[in-house]
Amino acid sequence: MTWKQVFTSSVGQKLTMGLSGIFLILFLIVHAGLNACIWAMDGGVMFNRAAHFMGDNVVPRVLEIGLFVFILLHIIQGLMLEASNRSKRGTPYAVSYGNRGSKWYSRSMGLLGTIILLFLVVHMVHFWIPSRFTGVAETTLPNGVEVHDLFSLMMATFQENIGVVILYVIGCISLAYHLAHGFQSAFRTMGVHNKRYVAMLKAIGYGFSVIVPLAFAMMPISMYFGWVK
Ligand code: HEM
Repeated sequence: MTWKQVFTSSVGQKLTMGLSGIFLILFLIVHAGLNACIWAMDGGVMFNRAAHFMGDNVVPRVLEIGLFVFILLHIIQGLMLEASNRSKRGTPYAVSYGNRGSKWYSRSMGLLGTIILLFLVVHMVHFWIPSRFTGVAETTLPNGVEVHDLFSLMMATFQENIGVVILYVIGCISLAYHLAHGFQSAFRTMGVHNKRYVAMLKAIGYGFSVIVPLAFAMMPISMYFGWVK
């Protein structure tokens, strides 16, 4: 397979979707784990320390470039796959099988991905752009190190506006359904076809697609209701 075919043939497109999807799944695990430090109930010390470590080290910064490349690749390939599926589906089926043929969220990956993309744009404006470009207020850790006070920025973002909290929850619900199909689909594209492994993958995929988005959704919710101190 040539490089051109990797990005243009339907097998190549599925492969890039699967590989980029697995990278993004790994990112979500790290991101959710790091953010979970907000529940340490220590005024954000542990969270700010962890975020500072990620922002100040070479390896995470290089991985960050890879992350944005993979996100872009995933979006472009996803749009191309969606367009080619639509053109193949030009003639509607005589009988609609609804959820008996496939689940609604498997057929709506493009729509769910678009909602997640819109969420991501707002999310970058809230945190990533201030953190990297426009500036975040500093705070001093107990060991005397000055760091970005991302914890206070998060508190201010979520406590001031219920609309923002609702938007994040909608983003997380879309992520949950996107992962419910995407998780197992990515590994199957990588060649997992054995019946037992597929059943196991499905179970892990469903667990992942509930636990991770739920953890994310609880972050704005718990900050809004003042459950985080
Ligand atoms: C809903 C709860 C979430 C909260 C409170 C949250 C918080 C944050 C914060 C504070 C940052 C800035 C980190 C820094 O600059 O050091 C960030 C970056 C980022 N977040 Fe989230 N996030 C959430 C969910 C998500 C979800 C669901 C996704 C993906 C679908 C996501 C994708 C990203 C990306 C791509 C970045 C930039 C990554 C980087 O520069 O390393 N976030 N998030």
